[in-house]
Amino acid sequence: MNDMRLFERAATVDEVKIRAKDVNVHYGIAHALKDVSVDIGDRLVTAFIGPSGCGKSTFLRCLNRMNDTIAAARVTGAIELDGQDIYDRRVDPVQLRAKVGMVFQKPNPFPKSIYENVAYGPRIHGLARTRAELDEIVEKALRRAALWNEAKDRLQSPGTGLSGGQQQRLCIARAIATEPEVLLMDEPASALDPIATAQIEELIDELRQTYSVVIVTHSMQQAARVSQRTAFFHLGHLVEYGETGDIFTNPRDPRTESYISGRIG
Ligand SMILES: Nc1ncnc2c1ncn2[C@@H]1O[C@H](COP(=O)(O)OP(=O)(O)OP(=O)(O)O)[C@@H](O)[C@H]1O
Ligand SMILES: [Mg+2]
Repeated sequence: MNDMRLFERAATVDEVKIRAKDVNVHYGIAHALKDVSVDIGDRLVTAFIGPSGCGKSTFLRCLNRMNDTIAAARVTGAIELDGQDIYDRRVDPVQLRAKVGMVFQKPNPFPKSIYENVAYGPRIHGLARTRAELDEIVEKALRRAALWNEAKDRLQSPGTGLSGGQQQRLCIARAIATEPEVLLMDEPASALDPIATAQIEELIDELRQTYSVVIVTHSMQQAARVSQRTAFFHLGHLVEYGETGDIFTNPRDPRTESYISGRIG
């Protein structure tokens, strides 16, 4: 049995989707992220865990260049998507963000209808030829985000009129409507009730059949449920990274051990 497990572990070599090398982020003079190097696998869910302020969101934003939009942020190091440097001058950040979609910590629907929130991305990227095709994309995204039943009779109402948890699911629908290759989710379930949380976790599991998913979460149970790889951050450092089961049952670094057993955080 043990031998078998060792064999399985040795046989698991991730196909790399995103490779980060020596990434540092400064906000003005504050050094928020320190020499982070990590390979993020394709068709896997990777969880980022760690205490508040340790740099999880900062690092997540590096992966689709969202830090470009923060004037004080300075990013150095290298990040490759499928072997291509995403910080290359020739890369259009808007195109990049269609491939590497993001769901933010706070729901941020556009001040438009529910339908338009989801249809916006597919429309600007030319994913539908007809109105019927666009309707289909919108319905599919809302179904996958577990919002269809609540939204189907009010598609023309403003997205901002939904409850907080519904808005978060709308933002998830918006992010997956363009079929991104990588989905970055920053605490996507923090505003959701247990039922919606379970639905989103199911969606995450479904998405990893085709995509690479990175999720930031404060819930150790959630990380253990949804992810296959876990990265533990502490004070701007990536302290430990590996198979989720290993990180939770057999952490190597005392800081990881303290965090997962609830002693720091
Ligand atoms: N826009 C910003 N301007 C200046 N400093 C920032 C900015 N965003 C984050 N920071 C700082 O960078 C550090 C890391 O923040 P970050 O938001 O990445 O942490 P986090 O791990 O996501 O925390 P949390 O779990 O609370 O969301 C913190 O010290 C934070 O104050
Ligand atoms: Mg954060």
